[in-house]
Amino acid sequence: MAVSMFFPCLLTLSLLISFGRSIPANDACNAISESVPGQVYFPGDLGYTSETLKYWSVALRELRPVCIVMPTSASQVSAAVKILNQYPDVNFAVKSGGHDPNPGHSSIQDGVLIALREIRGTAYDAEKRLAFVKPGGEWNDVISVLDPMGVTLVGGRLGIVGIAGYLLQGGISFLSAQYGLACDSIVGWETVTANGSIVNVDAASQPDLAVAMRGSGNQFGIVTQFTIKTYPIGKVWGGSRVYAGDKQDEIFAALHRFIPYGHQEPKAAIIISDVIAVGKTSIILVFYFYDGPEPPSTGPFADFLKIIPTTTLTYTRSYADLLTANGAPAAIVTERASFRTFTIPYLPENPGIYAEISDKWHNITSHHFTNLLHLTSECSIDFQPMPSVVGQQSQRAGGNAMGLNGNDSDRILLEIQCLWASKEDDTTMYALSRDLTDWLESRLPGWEASGNEQYNPLFMNDATDDQNVTGSYRDYAKFKALQKSADPEGFFRVRAGGFKY
Ligand SMILES: Cc1cc2nc3c(=O)[nH]c(=O)nc-3n(C[C@H](O)[C@H](O)[C@H](O)COP(=O)(O)OP(=O)(O)OC[C@H]3O[C@@H](n4cnc5c(N)ncnc54)[C@H](O)[C@@H]3O)c2cc1C
Ligand SMILES: *[C@@H]1O[C@H](CO)[C@@H](O)[C@H](O)[C@H]1NC(C)=O
Ligand SMILES: *[C@@H]1O[C@H](CO)[C@@H](O)[C@H](O)[C@H]1NC(C)=O
Ligand SMILES: *[C@@H]1O[C@H](CO)[C@@H](O)[C@H](O)[C@H]1NC(C)=O
Ligand SMILES: *[C@@H]1O[C@H](CO)[C@@H](O)[C@H](O)[C@H]1NC(C)=O
Repeated sequence: MAVSMFFPCLLTLSLLISFGRSIPANDACNAISESVPGQVYFPGDLGYTSETLKYWSVALRELRPVCIVMPTSASQVSAAVKILNQYPDVNFAVKSGGHDPNPGHSSIQDGVLIALREIRGTAYDAEKRLAFVKPGGEWNDVISVLDPMGVTLVGGRLGIVGIAGYLLQGGISFLSAQYGLACDSIVGWETVTANGSIVNVDAASQPDLAVAMRGSGNQFGIVTQFTIKTYPIGKVWGGSRVYAGDKQDEIFAALHRFIPYGHQEPKAAIIISDVIAVGKTSIILVFYFYDGPEPPSTGPFADFLKIIPTTTLTYTRSYADLLTANGAPAAIVTERASFRTFTIPYLPENPGIYAEISDKWHNITSHHFTNLLHLTSECSIDFQPMPSVVGQQSQRAGGNAMGLNGNDSDRILLEIQCLWASKEDDTTMYALSRDLTDWLESRLPGWEASGNEQYNPLFMNDATDDQNVTGSYRDYAKFKALQKSADPEGFFRVRAGGFKY
C-alpha cells in the first residue's frame, strides 16, 4: 500500500529532475539555432551523426550532446557564446580535430558541442612569411597548402592530428629543435572570449595573455584563427622503421647518445615507440625525421640507422607526403584510447632508465596481454627527446605557458598510450597507465642526483584528465590569476571540460 502510493511520486519526481536537467540545454540549442540558422544539429540529423562519429578514440563517439553547433565564422561562435552566457547551467565543449582521447574535453554528454570543422582553411602571406590557419580540419590540410610554396609550419608529426587542440596544448613537432614547440611560432590568436567578444590577441597588445595562449589549452577563449610564423622546407628524409623486440638494447643505447645531440643536429628528430600487444609480443616502432633530402652518415642519428629493422618505410620525399604516410596507420584505428604522460630529465650517468621503464611497463600490462581475448589491444610507451634547444627557441620567441626556457636541460617526454576494444576494460586500462606514472614518480628521485632535481613540466597534449598538467607549470599561480581575470564567471573554467588552472 505504502509502496504503491509512493511509487508514482518517485516517478513524477524523477521525470521532473530529468526534464529539469535537459530543458535549459534544449532551450540554449533552440536559441542558438535561431541566431545561427542551419548550423545547429540535433540527434537524428545527418550532421549530428557524422560529427559524433568523428573522434579518434571510439569511446568518445558514445557521448551524446543535446545539440551540435557548427559555426562557419568567428561571429557565429560569438553569437553562440553570448547565448550560452544566458544559460549558466548548460555545459559545453569545444572541438577541432577530436583527437584528444579524454572524455569531456572535445566531447560532451547532455550539453552543447561547438564543433569548428566548418571554420577551416589556410592562407599564406609571402611578404610577411605568415600563415593564417583556421581550427577545422587536420594538419595534412594545412601542410599540403603550404608545401608547394616551399614553406611550412611547426605542426603535427602525424598528419591526421587536429589543428587547434594541438596548437593550444603545446604541440611537439619534428621541427621543434629548430623552432620550438608549435605554440611558440604563433604570433596572433583571433579569439572569442568568455563574454562573446572577438579579440585579436598578440604579444604587443597583451603580452601576458600571449604567453598564456601558448600551452594553456582552451581556458582563455575559442580560437577561430591562428597567425603563425612559417619556415622554409624542401625535400625531407624520414618515415618509420619497425624493429623486433630483441633490438631494444641497441635502440635504447642509440637513444641515450642521441638526446644530448639536439643542439648539434637540430634538423634530426625521432620518436621511439615501444609497443606491446596480445601474447606479450613486443615491437619497437621508430619514426625518423631529417630536415633535408638525406640523413647524415655519421653521428648519433646515423647510428640508429645501422640497427637492423624488420620493416623500412623511410624515404626522401616532400614534408606533406611524409606526414600523410606517418598518419595513415593511426587514421584507421577503431579502438578506445588513453594517453598519459610523464617528463623525465636526461640523466647522462644513467643509460639504463629506458630499459627499466620499458620493463616496468611490460610487467604492469602483462596480465592484460596474456589474455588472448584482448586481440586488438595495444599499449605503448613513446620516448620523445625534448632537447634543451627547444627551450632556447621557446624563450627566443617570447616564452610559453609550459615555462620552457633557455636554461632547460635535455628532457624526455614519455607518452603512455593504450588502445582497447571493450568498454568493460576502461577502468583497468586507465589504471595500467596510472600505475606506471605512480611508479615513475616514486622512482625519479632515485635516478636524479639528490639536490639536482630539475623542472619537469607535464606535456598537455599527451596527458590524462586527472593529471595536474597546469599545476606542473612554473608560473601556475600567475596564469591562474590571469585566467580568473579574463573569465571572471568561470565560463570556460567551470562549464567546459579540458585542462584548467
Ligand atoms: C594519432 C595522433 C598523433 C598525435 N601526434 C602528436 C604530435 O606529433 N605532437 C603533439 O604535440 N601531439 C600529438 N598528438 C596529440 C594531439 O596534439 C592532441 O590530441 C590534440 O589535442 C589534438 O588536437 P585536436 O584539434 O584534434 O583536439 P580536440 O580533441 O578537438 O581538442 C582538444 C582540446 O583543445 C580544445 N580546443 C580545440 N579546439 C579549440 C579552439 N579552437 N579553441 C579553444 N579550444 C579548443 C578542446 O576543447 C579540448 O580541450 C597526437 C594525437 C593523435 C591521436
Ligand atoms: C568582454 O571581454 C573583453 C576581454 O575579454 C573586454 O575587453 C570587454 O570589455 C568585455 N566586454 C564587455 C561588454 O564586458
Ligand atoms: C619485471 O618483472 C621481472 C620478473 O618478475 C622482474 O625480474 C623485474 O625486476 C621487473 N622489472 C621491474 C622494472 O619492475
Ligand atoms: C637562468 O639561470 C640563471 C642562473 O641560475 C638565472 O639567473 C636566470 O634567471 C635563468 N633564466 C631563466 C629564464 O629562468
Ligand atoms: C595542481 O597543482 C597546483 C600547483 O602545485 C596546486 O596548487 C593545485 O591545487 C593542484 N590542483 C589539483 C586539482 O590537484
